[in-house]
Amino acid sequence: MPPLSVDQIRQAYLDFFQEQGHAVIPSASLIPENDPTTLFTGSGMQPMLPYLLGEQHPLGKRIADSQKSFRSVDIEEVGDNRHTTFFEMLGNWSLGEYFKAEQIPWMFAFLTERLKLDPQRLYVTVFRGKDAIPRDDESAQVWKEQFARVGIDAKAIDEAEMHGMKDGRIFYYNEKKNWWSRAGEPAKMPVGEPGGPDSEMFWDFGAERGLHEISAWKDQPCHVNCDCGRFLEIGNNVFMEYIKTHSGFEQLKQRNVDFGGGLERMAAAVNDDPDVFMIDVFTPLRTELERLSGKTYGKNPEETRAFRVILDHLRAATFLIADGAPPSNKDQGYFTRRLVRRAIFFADRLALQTSDLCSFSADLIIKTYAKAYPDLVAKKETILSALSAEELQFRNTLIKGEKELKEYLSAKDTMDGAKVFYFYETYGFPRELTEEVALKLGKQVTDPSSFDTAKEKHQEGSRTGGLGKFKGGLADHSAETTKLHTATHLLNAALHRVLGQHIAQKGSNITAERLRFDFNHAEKMTPEQIAETEKLVNEAIAADLPVSFHLTTVDGAKDEGAIGVFDERYGEQVKVYVIGDGGAKVAGSGKMGDGPVFSKEICGGPHIARTGMIGNFKIQKEESSSAGVRRIKAIVSGGPAEIEVAKEVK
Ligand code: ALA
Repeated sequence: MPPLSVDQIRQAYLDFFQEQGHAVIPSASLIPENDPTTLFTGSGMQPMLPYLLGEQHPLGKRIADSQKSFRSVDIEEVGDNRHTTFFEMLGNWSLGEYFKAEQIPWMFAFLTERLKLDPQRLYVTVFRGKDAIPRDDESAQVWKEQFARVGIDAKAIDEAEMHGMKDGRIFYYNEKKNWWSRAGEPAKMPVGEPGGPDSEMFWDFGAERGLHEISAWKDQPCHVNCDCGRFLEIGNNVFMEYIKTHSGFEQLKQRNVDFGGGLERMAAAVNDDPDVFMIDVFTPLRTELERLSGKTYGKNPEETRAFRVILDHLRAATFLIADGAPPSNKDQGYFTRRLVRRAIFFADRLALQTSDLCSFSADLIIKTYAKAYPDLVAKKETILSALSAEELQFRNTLIKGEKELKEYLSAKDTMDGAKVFYFYETYGFPRELTEEVALKLGKQVTDPSSFDTAKEKHQEGSRTGGLGKFKGGLADHSAETTKLHTATHLLNAALHRVLGQHIAQKGSNITAERLRFDFNHAEKMTPEQIAETEKLVNEAIAADLPVSFHLTTVDGAKDEGAIGVFDERYGEQVKVYVIGDGGAKVAGSGKMGDGPVFSKEICGGPHIARTGMIGNFKIQKEESSSAGVRRIKAIVSGGPAEIEVAKEVK
């Protein structure tokens, strides 16, 4: 029997957790909404943040999904057998309900019974403890019982990183390895950030797959976290029960479980091949690339690297474009552009004979994922044409850039890092390839660190503005952010009144300082329209309207005339936030109130309880965002420092 496919593993996982009472939700977009912390959804947990902090999820306390994720920091890492920029993260969450005693046995059962992974080849880790956070003997004990069920005496061992694994199966590690938060270990967490100890699961590909034979590794003990290649982490159970404070940690309002498992990595374990690029979702394109290049994947290390870069980058670009990030010079689109350009560079290294590599590849990728992600099929034309246009443009740039590079090198004996950056910045040439061209022509690359200096300087400028601005900041539920969030709903409703009912939200991004709201509208707003919009919002604030939410179905929300993004991101059940008492159900009566409704919108929350808490609303800027899309930046001021949040009305 062939090993389970990626589609089968995903389905088996979702089925399993549905059987354990979880609501299965669709993947959220790769482009986060209302989250100023980051440009991309980089883990399954990210869209769940409000609920981990205590916001009520419309589907209850047990949620599972497979979340599309993209990690731009890994772009340069791609090329080895395990890193990808795009991946799917299988997730399950306990939102203040079950904990270690349920999660660990479920995971063990899923891996060994549903995926049929041999328990003899599974290893796990737990938290060693630090300061006030105790050592996680509880998880170790639950794991021990699970292994005992299949006749394995699982010993728990500490300090494997120093003394080797001995005959252990459960290993204690420090906070750098067995603690998870979006910011990393406890010391790196900003105040207000949730996190907790975690317990990771590893698959053993066999000692012969490790590198301990070669000299660099010879004197180091092999252990599950040593990265020699023998072990692969396939999942992480985070026991998220703490929140960082000024003086240390406090318990969160609720004890959560946040499980995240790399779908591709699980498939590699099921395949028993440590190369994730050998799993079935890569096979159609990998085979075509072999045919087009006449080269064999896995034969020559440099060529294999090139195959992997193309496979990873074009899959990621396909998904990014589908989620609204076509190649461009700024924000998310900048990364799509980089992926496409790198893929084309590496294709040239394989001497691939095609001038339409990207759309050809995307076509295969869309077919591969058609069942799991039908939206790719629906957006196929957009994806393929964006890629064709980018490739054509880049190939022209390439010709120009190569000419300039060769001219430069013919006149010089050396090239410094800053000049390498010039070609990276101007033509999109990957650093290593420019360096390679220089070396081939017998020139030396000097002062390599000046590349990074030049890059940092550049990033302070405009192009990656989004990245620079948001790095380090964190989504919070502070009073200011919540006020601005409610102000965004008022703004959306006011724009409908001033500009017309065609207005639809195209994006929104809120920090504690300001809101940013993108919407479709063909023309620049006139000063009168801006003034009128501002006036309507301030009138709604002055009326101190109540804000509340109720749960309903997607269709129910449409019937009530709620606006918002109907992308089924919350599944069938949704929250509708109502501003003004005419649309809010009158508590206990099951009836609607009879006052005015200012706004009714599908949204995850949170919001303030009364509009008066917003203070004063001011539009600072109205500008073009992209073709047919306008962008408003606005601030609020003068509201109270303490707020109350909007509640559910049943
Ligand atoms: N949120 C955890 C992770 O990304 C599960 O590893």
